Amino acid sequence: MALPPAPFPAARFRRMRSSAALRGLMRETTLTVDDLIWPVFVMEGEDTATPIPSMPDVARLTVDRVVQAAGEAASLGIPAICLFPYIEPSLKTPGCELAWDPGNLSNRATRAIKAAVPEIAVMTDVALDPYNANGHDGIVRDGVIVNDETVEALVRMALAQADAGADILGPSDMMDGRIGAMRSALEAAGHENVTILSYAAKYASAFYGPFRDAVGASGALKGDKKTYQMDPGNTDEALRLIARDLAEGADMVMVKPGLPYLDICRRVKDRFGVPTYAYQVSGEYAMIRGAADNGWVDGDKVMMESLIAFKRAGCDGILTYFAPAAARALRAGG
Ligand code: PBG
Repeated sequence: MALPPAPFPAARFRRMRSSAALRGLMRETTLTVDDLIWPVFVMEGEDTATPIPSMPDVARLTVDRVVQAAGEAASLGIPAICLFPYIEPSLKTPGCELAWDPGNLSNRATRAIKAAVPEIAVMTDVALDPYNANGHDGIVRDGVIVNDETVEALVRMALAQADAGADILGPSDMMDGRIGAMRSALEAAGHENVTILSYAAKYASAFYGPFRDAVGASGALKGDKKTYQMDPGNTDEALRLIARDLAEGADMVMVKPGLPYLDICRRVKDRFGVPTYAYQVSGEYAMIRGAADNGWVDGDKVMMESLIAFKRAGCDGILTYFAPAAARALRAGG
């Protein structure tokens, strides 16, 4: 804890704010391009970008365009890109078999990026929802999302992604026991250096709305995800989940969504001192851009202020759709 300040006028806090030089000297937290992970949406086809109406300036990209985007990200210094596939509705099945097909869209995109832009880390999403006929992150039997059978499917999916060259696996499914199962399967398969960034404290949130449009899961989803994602009222549970996932072999942990859950980020960092990330999710992006595009707030300034908030709350990095814009702003001295 900071000591109590000397009484006025011995302490005048405005002295240290009186010039940009002094403000810079005193700044405790900074954002750098190294803190950014850029989530992108991939679709089939060639040389096409399909805009996502609820996410201005975000589009689904064909694999060739994603490779281009990865190249641009790398040249801006962004360390990692995170792939989310848009799967045609006719290819979604109740068994989600496409999820672990070595030649599926996500795995082809990973291979193409690693071949063309080897220096950028590729993160993949380990969850069944894009492939699932009913939009859930788990396999559904008689209306129940079954845990253990889903974990088996996730392990197959994770291995296929590691084989394709993924550097970071991001299990975003919230099943129990999947980190340990994935970690031992990766070790057994010789993928001992593939990292796991566990979506450990992921809340059942309405802030995911635009994302579900982007990956085409909104139409498919029946019901909600409250039996596996967390209740927004909970915080101790987040710590227990994080302790569990670390013990099972996660290298990094995530809190999701971001800004509404910064208290969780801070508790996690203070308690565990491990690489901690937050996901500034689609709805957060949409809110900022919606207000900015209406002229109600200064978009660039609010973007940078929202990103520094994650760092201040203890995060080591942020998954954000703003990654390229933020990298450009940092480069320009913002
Ligand atoms: C699903 C998944 C979701 C997001 C990432 N992975 C949505 C959900 O849980 O329904 C949300 C990301 C965002 O909103 O930007 N596995």
